[in-house]
Amino acid sequence: MEVLVLPTPADVARRAAEVVIDGLGAARRPEPVLGLATGSSPLGLYAELAAAVRAGRLDLTRARGFALDEYVGLPVGHPQSYREVLLREVCGPLGLAPERLHVPDGSGRDEDELVAGAAAYDRLIADAGGVDVQILGIGANGHLGFNEPGSALSSRTRVKRLSDRTRHDNARFFAGIDDVPTHCVTQGLGTVLDARRLVLVASGPGKSEAVAAALEGPLSASCPASVLQWHADATAVLDETAAARLRNRDYYDASAAGL
Ligand code: GLP
Repeated sequence: MEVLVLPTPADVARRAAEVVIDGLGAARRPEPVLGLATGSSPLGLYAELAAAVRAGRLDLTRARGFALDEYVGLPVGHPQSYREVLLREVCGPLGLAPERLHVPDGSGRDEDELVAGAAAYDRLIADAGGVDVQILGIGANGHLGFNEPGSALSSRTRVKRLSDRTRHDNARFFAGIDDVPTHCVTQGLGTVLDARRLVLVASGPGKSEAVAAALEGPLSASCPASVLQWHADATAVLDETAAARLRNRDYYDASAAGL
């Protein structure tokens, strides 16, 4: 695991973009696969990737994008559905064709349909050759995707209930808490771990506790983001405030300085 601590969120975005571009290049695949996170954390990173596309340093026209998660029950086209968010923030700016964006299906009419859709999503990822680089944010409670505390470390894409904490955290995107869906379809932690490279971005003091638990606490379902410790090619890119509670900071900085 590599931990890179940078002064500001803008530095985090720039550095994380380099790690993503490097990972896509290293995959050497004609149709590379990028794993996409939502939330505010990766927005700066997406803007940097868009700048790289404009500068001709990155070409995603033959890439595929796979979202981590989706709400259950939002009407098709709802501006806060993760499909719509990713169409806005990623497809247009990064030149990823909408038909090459895949998002878990939260529109199933009953549990059977949702469960079948979730299983189909894992097959779709496998058919695309797996995710080359997975971009990740972290919830204030340590959630990854929508894998809430208690999620099985080997879980696959499935339907889950959202925690009250997450619903309150995400209420800012809706008219009010009552409009926030209660359930989601999320890639499982096992699904996330299958990606060849993981790149987690976090900024701000509100994430410092979750970041410390994820990177330096026990590998535990109580902190789903701690699965980063299990992955052979995981990089956490943090700003100073998100890194504030890390104990091994000196070691991370020395390692980042190189040989
Ligand atoms: C949502 C997403 C997560 C994301 C988290 C953090 O719950 N499902 O993938 O990491 O929010 O959001 P933010 O980056 O806005 O703090």
